[in-house]
Amino acid sequence: MQNRYGKLASWVYNLDKPIGRSFGDQEYYRQRLEHGDDGPILEPAVGNGRIFVPLLEAGFRIEGFDASDEMLDYCRNECRNRSLAASLTRQTFEEFSYEKRFAAIIVPAGSFQLVTDVVSAGAVLKRFYDHLSPNGRVIIDLDAIGGFFGPSGSIRSWVAEDGDLLTLTDHRVETNYIAQTTLSHLRYEHWHGGNLVTTELDLFKLRWWGVNEFSLALRAAGFTDVVVSGNYRYGKAPQKDDEIISFEARRPANG
Ligand SMILES: C[S@@+](CC[C@H](N)C(=O)[O-])C[C@H]1O[C@@H](n2cnc3c(N)ncnc32)[C@H](O)[C@@H]1O
Repeated sequence: MQNRYGKLASWVYNLDKPIGRSFGDQEYYRQRLEHGDDGPILEPAVGNGRIFVPLLEAGFRIEGFDASDEMLDYCRNECRNRSLAASLTRQTFEEFSYEKRFAAIIVPAGSFQLVTDVVSAGAVLKRFYDHLSPNGRVIIDLDAIGGFFGPSGSIRSWVAEDGDLLTLTDHRVETNYIAQTTLSHLRYEHWHGGNLVTTELDLFKLRWWGVNEFSLALRAAGFTDVVVSGNYRYGKAPQKDDEIISFEARRPANG
């Protein structure tokens, strides 16, 4: 199974990207959501709640889902520690379903690129559309293509709360220029007192998108008013070296 975000991967994610850690996205999403219609917000692939928890604390009515129980556990704990009531469920991009409709759906951190089949990705965008109220907005971040072709084989490490060591070795094992995907082997290790406690291998697959390609995919799903922004400057067209491309689009009032 790919993109599983298992026990060690979730632990590392939470150490590396704890609640409130921002890449410019925390401020961007907050600002964009303040401009929107009143109504509930949905964050698919909510993860440990890095973005979700501060938005909830700021008073936004936001709900989330994620495919990984381990990631959801971190998010639930963070909400519990802050006495925040949170609506969090285990669902996937491909099959999620709600009775209600949302004023906005947000997908930060390039999580949409975890949907690696282009036909499934189109169906997920249609599912987003169907879960928005008329005039509702989708806001999705994608990593720029350049980020996919950097050096492979990096080793990173983190010291956990109790002094244990966590390491991550990242090997890109396949690049498919037709499907626009990379497959990496992420090997996580947990060390205690110099002894290996456990190890985990995650098959990590991502898809890259062209800027126009993704705008067309949004339009094909029924969205209008597509605004593409680079590096979290709303309305500023992406430039050559921008690392993050944000797409915002609307379900039409009569759609
Ligand atoms: C990069 S993290 C993003 C977490 C959070 N949104 C943030 O901004 O920090 C990606 C998340 O996507 C989740 N995920 C992976 N595949 C998924 C799928 N098919 N459906 C729903 N969530 C998925 C993972 O479990 C993980 O929590």
